[in-house]
Amino acid sequence: MNKPKVLITRNIFAEDIERIKEVAEVDLWVEELPPPREALLEKSKGISGILCLITDDIDREFMDNVGPKLKVISQIAVGYNNIDIAEATRRRIPVGYTPDVLTHTTADFAFALLMATARLVVPGYNAVQNGLWKTWHPLHFLGQDVYGSTLGIVGMGRIGFEMARRSIGFNMNVVYYDINRRKDLEDEIRMKYVSFDELLETSDFVSIHVDLNPITRNMFDDDQFTQMKESSVIINAARGPIIDHMALYRALKENKIYAAGLDVTDPEPIPSNHPLLGLDNCLIVPHIASASVATRKAMSKLATTNLINGLMDRPLSTCVNLEING
Ligand code: DGY
Repeated sequence: MNKPKVLITRNIFAEDIERIKEVAEVDLWVEELPPPREALLEKSKGISGILCLITDDIDREFMDNVGPKLKVISQIAVGYNNIDIAEATRRRIPVGYTPDVLTHTTADFAFALLMATARLVVPGYNAVQNGLWKTWHPLHFLGQDVYGSTLGIVGMGRIGFEMARRSIGFNMNVVYYDINRRKDLEDEIRMKYVSFDELLETSDFVSIHVDLNPITRNMFDDDQFTQMKESSVIINAARGPIIDHMALYRALKENKIYAAGLDVTDPEPIPSNHPLLGLDNCLIVPHIASASVATRKAMSKLATTNLINGLMDRPLSTCVNLEING
């Protein structure tokens, strides 16, 4: 019997590719950069499954182009704003994703970004590297204290909660905002549910952990930065478009807020001539919050299992559109 055809849009761990090859004919996109749209459409014609990334647009045109054989979409990420879930559900195509396995690694990194941004780790390193460290000076490289400060978490999901847990050792006062109050989690650690406005006005650190959707797009604009404290730091390890980048630029440039630490930008990669890159108080890294060896292996394994289960008409282990899973 002919094996079903699958497309894997970037290299994943070799052992996972081997597992997929046992049940499917694999077309692997080996380039470092994502397949251009035409190549994605061309290569996906007639496939039964795809293992895709946040950089691939899996929309209605894509699904039309693949045709009726498409049985499963398996995304190697917890976020899936690049996939038209409603359209996949309408066609009864289960969409896999990789929650849980990356929660701790991502929260660790968001906290690292918070510490590095607050305490000027990168400007300090740059000064040393460029021979600008002349002496110990009482007024040089003055950052913001983390210990005992107020952490405002926007989005109390899995990663937001782990961010809150990490703040305990720093004796931080945690406030959070989410469309749903999480009383169950409030029983586990001391944190206060507040309005978005109150969070902005009272937090020393604002850390974003919501997904990207029409409501959260540009959730941070000029008005929000104006509400924040001048000494505050904003951290984004969720999705770039949640922050209007020119509004952030104005806020940082005019010292409306102290600093920003961004794992994600809009667009990605951020162009090297973007004004944010000209600011000392904006630390930007290339969307690497989940990038540890163990976590990327776990994500690759889970996305592989989801792909294989979908091909075999079995329920996916972690499925976005649960109503059609299995
Ligand atoms: C995700 O999983 O959604 C991240 O942004 C990539 O790890």
